Amino acid sequence: MSRKDQIRDAYKTTGGQASFYDGMMTYSTWLGKAICRIVWNMDGEKNAAYLEKALSGIPEDFSGKLLEVPVGTGVLTMPVYQTLPRAAITCLDYSPDMMAAAQEKAKRLGIANVTFTQGDVGALPFADESFDIVLSLNGFHAFPDKEAAYRETFRVLKKGGTFCGCFYIRDECRRTDWFIRHLYQPKGFFTAPYETQSSLRERLSQMYENAEVTAVEGIGCFCCRK
Ligand SMILES: C[S@@+](CC[C@H](N)C(=O)[O-])C[C@H]1O[C@@H](n2cnc3c(N)ncnc32)[C@H](O)[C@@H]1O
Repeated sequence: MSRKDQIRDAYKTTGGQASFYDGMMTYSTWLGKAICRIVWNMDGEKNAAYLEKALSGIPEDFSGKLLEVPVGTGVLTMPVYQTLPRAAITCLDYSPDMMAAAQEKAKRLGIANVTFTQGDVGALPFADESFDIVLSLNGFHAFPDKEAAYRETFRVLKKGGTFCGCFYIRDECRRTDWFIRHLYQPKGFFTAPYETQSSLRERLSQMYENAEVTAVEGIGCFCCRK
C-alpha cells in the first residue's frame, strides 16, 4: 500500500470519530485531555498557547485570500473563520472523511465564505501567488512528500504573503518522540522524516523572510513572510 493510501486510511477512521479527535485537539474531553497530557506533555494552557502562536499570522480583520491545508475536521479553524466574514477562505485536505466533518461545522456555524477542495498538498490545484495567507496546522508531520508540500505552499503564496502554522517537531519532548515512533507512525498518522526546531528555522529562513519559529513542547509553531 502506498504511503498516501496508508495516510488516507488512517484519517478515514479519524474522520468517522470526529468528536474523539476534536476533543483531543481542543483539550475538551477527559480522553482528549489525558492524551494531551500523556503523549504531548501539555495542559490546557500549553494547548491554547501553541494554537495562538500558530494562528498569529492571521490579522483579526483579515479580508484577503486564505488557504488552509490540511483542514482536517476544521475543529481549530471554523471558529476563527466565523470571525472573518470578509475573507475568502479555501480549505483543502486529502481525506474526504476528515473534510466532511469540517464542512458540517461550517454549515452549522453559518460560515458562507469557505470553500472545500479535496486534494494533495504536494500538487495544489491553484495558480502561483494566489493567496495572501497559507495556514497549515498539524499537517507537515503527516504529509508523505514534505519537500513537495514546502514547495507548493510557497508557490501558491503571494509575494509579501504569510505562511504560518504548526506541526510536530522531534527532540523537544522525549515522551512525545517515543509515542510518535511507536504508535502514531506505525498507524499511518505521522510520516518521517521530522524537523527539529533548528532544522525548521533554517529551512524557513532560507525560503522566507522574518521566519519566526518557537516550540511548545513537541509542537513547532512558525510564522514567516514570502
Ligand atoms: C493531524 S490532521 C490535522 C488536521 C487539522 N489541521 C488539525 O489541526 O486538526 C492531518 C491531516 O492531514 C491530511 N493529509 C495527509 N496527507 C495529506 C496530503 N498529501 N495532502 C493534503 N492533506 C493531507 C490528513 O487527511 C489529515 O486530515
